Amino acid sequence: MTYAHYEQDGFVATVTIDRQEVLNALDDAVLADLDEAVNQVDLDQTRCLIITGAGNRAFVAGADIARMSTMTRQEAAAFGTYGNAVFRRIEKLPVPTIAAINGYALGGGCELACACDIRIATEHAKFGQPEVGLGITAGFGGTQRLARVIGVGRAKELLYTGRTITAAEALRIGLITAAVPADQLMGTARQLAGQIAGHPPVAVRATKAAIDLGQQVDIDTGISIEVQVYSSCYESTGQREAMQAFLRKRSAG
Ligand code: COA
Repeated sequence: MTYAHYEQDGFVATVTIDRQEVLNALDDAVLADLDEAVNQVDLDQTRCLIITGAGNRAFVAGADIARMSTMTRQEAAAFGTYGNAVFRRIEKLPVPTIAAINGYALGGGCELACACDIRIATEHAKFGQPEVGLGITAGFGGTQRLARVIGVGRAKELLYTGRTITAAEALRIGLITAAVPADQLMGTARQLAGQIAGHPPVAVRATKAAIDLGQQVDIDTGISIEVQVYSSCYESTGQREAMQAFLRKRSAG
C-alpha cells in the first residue's frame, strides 16, 4: 500500500493516510489503500482503531480537486459511490474508531472524521465542508453525518457557507471532543484507545451496535435493540469475569 499504513500495537490498530504532497487529499488510489488498510484490521486482536494523517499539516484536505475537476456526472457518481462505500465500511466496523485529526480536515477529511466514532484533534486543526465553493455538494456523507454529529442547524450553516472553523470552535460545537497540542495528539488517542480496549470487547461492541442502530430507528425500536444487546452480553466470559472481579474486590475490602 502506497497511501495508507497499518500498524498494530497490542489491542490498538492505527491506519495512517499518507499522501503528504497534496495534504493527504483523497483520490481513487488513496481510497483503495485506505480501504485495504482498514480491511487488514484483525477483529480478533483489535479493540480500537485510530485513523490519522501523515505529516503535521493535514488529516485529509478533502477529495482530490484535480481529479474531480474534469469528471463527468457518471464519473462523479462512481467516485461518490466508492468513497461512501469505503467510509461506510469504516463506520460499520464493530470496534470503536477514533479520528486523530492532525491538521486540516476539510471536505472528505471532515467526512472521514464523522464516519469515525470519536474525533480528537490538535489545537491547530481546521475543519470545514468547502464543497459549495467548488460548485458541488459534499459527496462522501457530509450532507448526512455532519448533521447527526452537530445538529441540523449547525451542519447547514457550515455546509452552506463552506467556512473553515478552528479546533476551538469544533470543540465548542461538539464536532470534536478534545483539542490538544500537536505533540500530544497520538498519545492522547492511544490513551483513549487503551481505556476503551481495557473493557470487555463484548460490552464495547454491543454498545457501539446499539447506538449506531438506534440512530436509524424510532425510540421504541431503539429500546428493544438495547434490550437485545444488553442481554447478549450475559453469559459471556467478559461479563462473568468483570462482575466477579468487582465482587471479589468488594469482599476483599
Ligand atoms: N485536492 C487536491 N490537491 C490539494 C487539495 C485537494 N483537496 N488540498 C491541497 N492540495 C494540494 C495543493 O494543490 C498543493 O499542491 P501543489 O504544491 O502542487 O500546489 C498542496 O496540496 C499544498 O496545498 P497548498 O494549497 O499549497 O497549501 P496552503 O497551506 O496554502 O493551503 C489549504 C492549505 C488546505 C487551505 C488548501 O490547500 C485548500 O484549500 N485545499 C482544498 C480544500 C478543499 O476545498 N477541500 C474540499 C475538496 S471537496
